[in-house]
Amino acid sequence: MNPTGSILLVDDEQKLLKSLGRALRSEGHRVVESGSGAVARRLLADQTFDVLVVDNLMPEFTGLELIRELVATTPESERPQVLIMTAYATVQSAIEAMKLGALDFLQKPFEVDELLVLVTRALEHQRLRTQHRYLISELDEEFNHYGIVGRSRAMQDVIQRAELVAESKSTVLITGETGTGKELVARAIHDRSAQRAMPLIRVNCAAIPETLLESELFGHVRGAFTGATTTKKGKFALADGGTILLDEIGTMGQALQAKLLRVLQEREFEPLGAERTERVDVRVIAATNRDLRQLVAESRFEEDLYYRLNVIPIHIPPLRERREDIPVLLEHFVRKHAQRTGKRIDRIEDGVLQALQQYEWPGNVRELENTIERAVVLSTSPLITSRSVSNVAPPVTSAPALPSLKLHQNVEWAERETVRRALDQAGGVKKDAAELMGISQRALSYYLAKYRIE
Ligand SMILES: Nc1ncnc2c1ncn2[C@@H]1O[C@H](COP(=O)(O)OP(=O)(O)OP(=O)(O)O)[C@@H](O)[C@H]1O
Ligand SMILES: [Mg+2]
Repeated sequence: MNPTGSILLVDDEQKLLKSLGRALRSEGHRVVESGSGAVARRLLADQTFDVLVVDNLMPEFTGLELIRELVATTPESERPQVLIMTAYATVQSAIEAMKLGALDFLQKPFEVDELLVLVTRALEHQRLRTQHRYLISELDEEFNHYGIVGRSRAMQDVIQRAELVAESKSTVLITGETGTGKELVARAIHDRSAQRAMPLIRVNCAAIPETLLESELFGHVRGAFTGATTTKKGKFALADGGTILLDEIGTMGQALQAKLLRVLQEREFEPLGAERTERVDVRVIAATNRDLRQLVAESRFEEDLYYRLNVIPIHIPPLRERREDIPVLLEHFVRKHAQRTGKRIDRIEDGVLQALQQYEWPGNVRELENTIERAVVLSTSPLITSRSVSNVAPPVTSAPALPSLKLHQNVEWAERETVRRALDQAGGVKKDAAELMGISQRALSYYLAKYRIE
């Protein structure tokens, strides 16, 4: 079926105007007819049309003049597609009109079918333009705040601070619970900075064993330690000119903290085993879900380093303290994952929406996104129901059942469950999981091996 749309038809020849109008209507278009350029001009100012079909030669106000004015007064995205009708003698005007952006012209006399074909094509163009504009505005929305969604006062402050700090090269300390968007904000700062063309290098301090972290950060020369068979650049050198993101800085050991302090003070360091000192020009962004001040109080974090890092603090509050963000985040992630999976999701069931709004979200935005992704993937209809978000709105169960009455079997079950849940809550970071469980990392490794958990 051909697309239909709204058409403004302008011609001073009444007979032609009527017959063309009839033909267009019979195709399902909505047509407004006008016998004069001056009236058409007013109509264009008051209403929006998909297509303008205009005769060129008219008394007082020519078609070309009308087009010229339209172009001058209306942004392209809001203009109708333009088709101009001309007599042979005025074909030059048609060329003029095309230069002004008219889509095509009809040379009089023409068959009605010719007009119908051109109108169909014009509507096609209009549809594509609208779609394109929609995509662009989507992109703008994504990139305006670099994908940071949030309407709460607190998130608006975070975004504003990130924008301001992006213009400087100051050190930034981003704090917040797991999954609140610390890395997202760090990337936004880099992407908005004058150094955005230079690299952003992320080091996850928690994922790298203490013994390797130093060489990871500062590099090493060949033979610096057993196994150092080649010379390797460190992350600081790689980030030169750009940004280094020291993620999970709270887990860094104290020997290394002292070395990091020196880099922050002097902007220089020595690779392991190297004789010479290297200079770097890097912006440092540190992120942590720990309370560094508390760690300082417990003498587990260098006080000087804390102050060096905490030049511009950005704190992202947990999601449960900014519940106004939940609806927009839900909408954002439903759209994102519906698009990804090619599914149509119209809405979330009211009761479920309420449960999502009231849930505590210990894993913050990451948990919310995972919940929605799972719900979209599992949904079999355009409505998200409680079935697909059972982790948030759990069905009532009886007291947690023990697997058996065999003591050893139950103890093993409890061990396995504890490890699994701690890992889950720590986002897979073993060091944190061990801490949550109140055991050493070595002990955790033992349980991981015992139960073959990865
Ligand atoms: N305000 C937000 N708008 C859109 N997406 C967000 C927002 N906050 C977080 N996210 C998304 O949630 C996920 C977790 O964010 P991110 O990795 O930045 O958290 P984090 O604070 O670094 O967590 P962790 O402490 O566990 O490392 C990412 O996929 C991120 O894109
Ligand atoms: Mg992170």
